[in-house]
Parts: sequence; structure tokens; C-alpha cells
Amino acid sequence: MKGNEVADRFDRAAATYDDSAVPRWLAGQAAQLAMASPAELVLDVATGTGLAIEAMISLGSKASFTGVDISSGMLAQAARKPLAARTVLRQADANQLPFQDNMFDLTICVSAMPYFREPARALAEWRRVTRHGRIIFTAWTEGGLTLPRLVRLAAAEEGVILPDPTAALATVDGLRLVTAAAGLRVAHLSVVEHHQPLLQSDAAAWDRVTAGEFGQPMRQADQETQHRARARFLRLLTDATAAENSNRTSAYLIETAHA
Ligand SMILES: C[S@@+](CC[C@H](N)C(=O)[O-])C[C@H]1O[C@@H](n2cnc3c(N)ncnc32)[C@H](O)[C@@H]1O
Repeated sequence: MKGNEVADRFDRAAATYDDSAVPRWLAGQAAQLAMASPAELVLDVATGTGLAIEAMISLGSKASFTGVDISSGMLAQAARKPLAARTVLRQADANQLPFQDNMFDLTICVSAMPYFREPARALAEWRRVTRHGRIIFTAWTEGGLTLPRLVRLAAAEEGVILPDPTAALATVDGLRLVTAAAGLRVAHLSVVEHHQPLLQSDAAAWDRVTAGEFGQPMRQADQETQHRARARFLRLLTDATAAENSNRTSAYLIETAHA
């Protein structure tokens, strides 16, 4: 997705973003890893509504925070929270940070890697501003079940291949390749899991995913194919809401250091 498309999308989602359980859970996981070795100056890239900063503060962090995001709407939500008293919030593109080299002791990025078309390039930029290359980020594993995955699966069953923006970082090998390309090594890697039932109301994900940049092949398909693929998606969603083991979100927690 282009930067302004992403910003528009999150501007629209900002008011209700914090209602979802998964981002808050994952931000808490990243914060725990960050607190294992407290840092003074922390940058949260693609901070959104500041969930990771909030989580670190609630774990007792004494750090000064900077939060950067491309969406003014998400930043406006963060600015309303108590975290704003000790956080500099700036609208900027995480691929091109308005900071000098080695300004931060730690950079974190939660739930946002799929938005970076060139993840190694983004990581290299964060490495530039981070002493010793200490970056904590999250990525979806290939094992978890996410709504965009159900959409891609339904589309593929109708012969329409939608690009997967999570693919490059969905395996341990992929993570190692991308971090190495950014001049980093993996210092910590663990998998964390969250169980939350998918809901029939999640059917709205079809429109969301197929309307975005990665949904273009579906929009180009004929009406009949689009109709059949959507029906397949709804069946997959119904199966997923009924199946006990398919309500799992699974993510990697990665910490890097200079290679
Ligand atoms: C799913 S949200 C995650 C927000 C937050 N990190 C969290 O854990 O809840 C993804 C965020 O990435 C931001 N984002 C996407 N591309 C970006 C870019 N190029 N530069 C800065 N922020 C970006 C979006 O605006 C959005 O706030």
C-alpha cells in the first residue's frame, strides 16, 4: 500500500483501534521483552495509538519515548493518553526517520512490519538511529490464522493469487535473511500465541483486504469469480469460528543487535 493510502486507512480506524485485543496483547509482549534490559531513550516506530509505549509505562519503564507514525489520526489518539506527558509524538515515514544517527537506545515496532514493502530497508533505517542496533519487532508466523490469510486462501481456491505482505518475515529463515540484509543479527527470537475466536462479524475483512493494494488481483477478476471467492471466504470463516484450534494468532518476537 502507498503511504497515503495506509495513513488514510488508519486515520479512519483510529477511533476504534484500541478496541481490538490482539494489538494490545502483542504490544504487551514486546514491552516485556524491552523491559528485560531497560533503555533510556526509546523510539516506537509505527506507534499507532501508542500501545507499546503504554505497555512499557505500565511495566514501570522510566524511559523517555518518541513515537512516530504516518497516520495523524492514530497519533491524535495517542496524544489523548497519559503517555503523551513523556512522549514526543511525530508524524513521519518510518522508512525515512527525521532523526540523527544513534539517537535511541532501543527501537520497537509492533504489528506493523506488513506495511513495509521493503522490510530490510526499513530495518536498516531503524538501525541507523539505534545504538548497537537494538531493535525489537514483531512479525506474524506462517502458522497463525489471520483474516487476510483466510481471504488469500479463498481467493487462491478460485485461482486468484493475492500477494502476501507478511510472507518475507513469516519464517525463521526469512527473518534471518531480512535482518542480515539490514546489517543486523537476531539476538532473541521467540514465538508468542494468542487465542481469540474469529467472529462472523469478521466477514467485513473481505471488503477491507480486497479493497487494499494487495487485493488488486481480486478486483481485476470477473464478477462471477469475485462472488464465488467471497462465498468461499464466508464458508472458511464459518468453519474457523466453529473450530477450536483455528482461533490462534501466532507471532514472532525478535530482538536484534549489530551484526
Ligand atoms: C497495525 S498498526 C500498529 C500500531 C502499533 N504499533 C500497535 O502495536 O498497536 C500499524 C501502524 O503502522 C503505521 N504505519 C504504516 N506504515 C507506516 C510508515 N511507512 N511509517 C510510519 N507508520 C506507518 C500505521 O499508520 C499504523 O498506525
